Amino acid sequence: MHADVENVRVQAAHQNGPPAPMAFVSFVPVAAAAESLPALSRAPASSGRAPLGRSGTDQQFSLPTAAAIAALAAGSAAVSRPNGTRLRIQRAAVGRRGGLLGGLAVAAAAARPKPANAAEKLTKQTAEKVQADIEQIIKADPNKGPTLVRLAWHSCGSYDKVSKTGGSGPGTIRFKEELAHGGNAGLDKAVAWLEPVKQSNPSISYADLYTLAGVASIKALGGPDVPWRAGRVDSVSPSDVTPDGRLPNASNGSAKKDVDHLRDVFYRMGFNDQEIVALSGAHALGRCHADASGFVGPWTPTPTTFNNLYFKLLKNSQWEEGCIKGETCKNPQYRNVDTQQFMMLPTDIALLKDPSFSKYVDLYADDQKVFFKDFSKAFSTLLELGTKDLYTVV
Ligand code: HEM
Repeated sequence: MHADVENVRVQAAHQNGPPAPMAFVSFVPVAAAAESLPALSRAPASSGRAPLGRSGTDQQFSLPTAAAIAALAAGSAAVSRPNGTRLRIQRAAVGRRGGLLGGLAVAAAAARPKPANAAEKLTKQTAEKVQADIEQIIKADPNKGPTLVRLAWHSCGSYDKVSKTGGSGPGTIRFKEELAHGGNAGLDKAVAWLEPVKQSNPSISYADLYTLAGVASIKALGGPDVPWRAGRVDSVSPSDVTPDGRLPNASNGSAKKDVDHLRDVFYRMGFNDQEIVALSGAHALGRCHADASGFVGPWTPTPTTFNNLYFKLLKNSQWEEGCIKGETCKNPQYRNVDTQQFMMLPTDIALLKDPSFSKYVDLYADDQKVFFKDFSKAFSTLLELGTKDLYTVV
């Protein structure tokens, strides 16, 4: 019996923004508990993290048996979690006369065997609805598309292949601690744009939502299909935020240092030179904002269309240091000499300075089809950094 009570259904009450200090554990009525619960992933008792179920709202914890029994008997109690935080346990809807008996019945229901990996999967219908919601955001304001692409990439770009930390898996970019990282300036807005999408499609995790937003935006802006899989499980703790400094700096003091820095950062994630160049092609989209990065201006004349103009301009224009026409920029950047309307970051210009990079700039400038194919593959890989047990939505 004791072992049977170990698995209890948990509803985490802190899904929006930084988690509240307590998670609430609800014991639900027997029949409902038995029949309607999607079985959810189970956190090992030794785990320091409390993963959410697929829905982003439900999860199972393995609680110490004695504590769970005590909570049942008491109707409401606080129990320590393995990571030292505390769970408040409430017994809801156990009838007055139920008392301990009711509690035990609930325990028995909760203990009904569930398939080992029966977490509720994201349905194709929901994934399509989420994509349609994102398309609506972009239709209303196409300039939001590029920022959503940047959010998707930054949600993954913290990955370190050696320590296997960071990446898109835990969805930590929604925490203020990660949004405060220097490289994420301005992305709080994008997180806020997606919150209503999460609210109307609660079964998608934030981590899946941010990456799917990148895929949907690339497509909505005329880019290639990017293979995407679901199943990222949100972290509920800002302690999973990786240290600041993992995203690339756009200006590192010299072209040689920019080249080395790009390799340091992207090799750390597991990418090679060709993939670094292909991914950089996302700068076909969007612009730099004075109030975000301090750089200013668009890379191309078509910032809401995904194409290979970034490479064409990079390769075929002459670039000089300076802000684009009529703008003040705080950081060292480049502008095209003839019209001074377009900009490049020092790290963009660095792609011309290294033969192993520049050959791919040439390739993608000359062949948009190859760029789309290579970008799609590299972006899909990026979106899966730091994840496990992903599945194709069917
Ligand atoms: C190679 C290293 C990279 C550096 C140093 C870099 C740096 C930057 C900077 C400084 C901005 C301007 C942010 C702002 O002021 O709003 C920016 C914007 C952007 N970046 Fe990157 N980035 C890099 C790679 C990437 C990658 C790999 C992607 C996607 C695959 C990407 C997608 C974007 C997009 C779409 C924008 C425009 C955002 C908007 O319009 O709001 N970047 N990037």
